[in-house]
Order: sequence, then C-alpha cells, then structure tokens
Amino acid sequence: MKHHNHRPDNASPPERNLPEGVRAIVAVGAGKGGVGKSTVAVNLAVALAREGLKVGLLDADIYGPNLPQMLGLQNYVPKVGADGKIEPAEGHGVRLMSMGLLLDPEAPVIWRGPLLHGVMNQFVKDVRWGELDVLIVDLPPGTGDVHLSLAQIVPMAGAVVVTTPQNIALLDVMKAAAMFRKLDVPIWGVVENMGDFVCPHCRKTSRVFSAGAAKKLAQKYGLPVLAEIPLDPAVCAAGEDGMPLCAAHPESAPAKALFALARQVAGRLEELKTKKSGG
Ligand SMILES: Nc1ncnc2c1ncn2[C@@H]1O[C@H](COP(=O)(O)OP(=O)(O)OP(=O)(O)O)[C@@H](O)[C@H]1O
Ligand SMILES: [Mg+2]
Ligand SMILES: [Zn+2]
Repeated sequence: MKHHNHRPDNASPPERNLPEGVRAIVAVGAGKGGVGKSTVAVNLAVALAREGLKVGLLDADIYGPNLPQMLGLQNYVPKVGADGKIEPAEGHGVRLMSMGLLLDPEAPVIWRGPLLHGVMNQFVKDVRWGELDVLIVDLPPGTGDVHLSLAQIVPMAGAVVVTTPQNIALLDVMKAAAMFRKLDVPIWGVVENMGDFVCPHCRKTSRVFSAGAAKKLAQKYGLPVLAEIPLDPAVCAAGEDGMPLCAAHPESAPAKALFALARQVAGRLEELKTKKSGG
C-alpha cells in the first residue's frame, strides 16, 4: 500500500489524522491478556480528568469490551446526531466509546479485517469527542489487527505497556514493545501491576513476586517503569461497581500509584505541546 502515499516523507504532520479537537492519543497495551490493561486505562483516564484534563477513553477491545461496566455506563444508549456523529457516554469526567455500548454484550462478535478497520475508523472519527487533551485507548490483549488498524488510522503520541511481574509476562512485554516499535509508536514506559499485595484486613503491603522485575526490564531494554501498582482486592471491587478506584478511594495505595502514573503521562503531554508550539 506504500505506493499510494505520494507525500514526501518530511511533509506529513501526524496531527493531520487526529480527530478534530483531540490533541493526542495514548495507547495502553500489553502482550498478554488479564494483566490489568483496562484497569490501568480506566483509572489513568479518571485520574487525568481529576487532574483537570479533558479526557476521552476508547475501548478498542471490541471482542471483550468491559469499560462501560468499569465506569458504570453499561446502560447508556448512544445517540447519533443529525451529522451522523455518535455521542460518547460520560462518567467520572471521562468520555467513553465502546462496542459494549453499541452491541448486546452477550452476543459474540467476529470482526474480519476490513470490517474491523471500518469499526476502528468510526470509533475514532465518527464519535463526537469534542475538545480533548488526550484520548486514552485501551487495546485488546496481544498484538493483532486492531493495533495495526488504529496505527494506520491515527497517530499515537505514546504507549504505556502493562505487565505483571512474573518472568513469563516480561517476555510478553517484549512482544508488545516490539509491536509498538514496528507501528512507530513511542513507548513511554512500563506499568508493573499486581506486584505487591495490599492486605484487605490491615491494609499492609507485602511483596508476592521477587522484587524489581519491572526495574530489570527498565535496565535491560531501556523502558522506564512509570508505576508499580499493588494488587488490592479494592481495585477489583471498584471495577465491578462501576466506580474506578481513583474515584472511589483516591487515597489508597494503588490509586496513589495510578495518580503518579497520570502525572507522568500529563507531563509527557505537556512536553508534546511545548514541542509543537516551539515549532
Ligand atoms: N492492581 C490490581 N489489584 C487487584 N485486582 C486487579 C488489579 N489490576 C487488575 N485487577 C483485576 O484483574 C482482572 C483483570 O484486569 P483487567 O480486566 O484490567 O485486565 P486486562 O489486561 O484488560 O484483561 P483483558 O486482556 O481480558 O482485556 C480484573 O478482575 C481486575 O479487576
Ligand atoms: Mg481489557
Ligand atoms: Zn493483614
């Protein structure tokens, strides 16, 4: 498809393809399922909104969309404006679009290549996102078609890779990192999730896995560790209640780690702004 692109290499500002009003897109991904991508994406979005940013959240997990539930928005029925634009749901200061809002969540869906590309395109371009400082994208597990489609449709300013501390998960981080490199998306860093355990009885934190797995990764591959989020049953409960932990218990240990992550992401977004305005 390369030969269809007649733009000279130095004349393609990536902003061209961002949806109108959206300043930047940041992806949350992982090489593996179940490591906490959606939990991190939703709390990052809520934390950034609480820090005063205008935030959108795109659930790119079209096979297993669970962000509506996590934000308590599962009963929202999207309206379509006269101009054909879909109104996103809004909760906890975050605008959300998800396949879970459009389809019966019980019905299994199989999206084949071109159809999937069309869906991703609609999710990004045909949703009335309005003015956004950042659109966070929760990617599906693995390194498949959705990732490729998105990267072809919009420029992504950066990616956050989520992992658990087990060694096997680290191999999966490398897979995700390799994918983002191939798609030309800068990797901002790694989030280690569920490394420590917060006791629900006494709220004390203890190590479960050998310490510093993410730090080893940082040293070996030059991927900075942006946050270490402990395993806390409150995180899971908050997700199920539609009240993300950063909204429900902002003072808890995992929420503090997530707010720290949000401030780093906000910092990177700020840098992008200065770069742009500086020419
Ligand atoms: N720090 C944490 N403490 C406790 N539970 C957590 C934590 N992070 C995630 N979980 C729980 O682990 C489960 C998986 O998390 P989540 O759905 O965010 O992962 P995922 O990577 O998005 O999964 P999938 O690959 O299926 O999309 C959920 O039940 C979630 O509540
Ligand atoms: Mg998920
Ligand atoms: Zn205890």
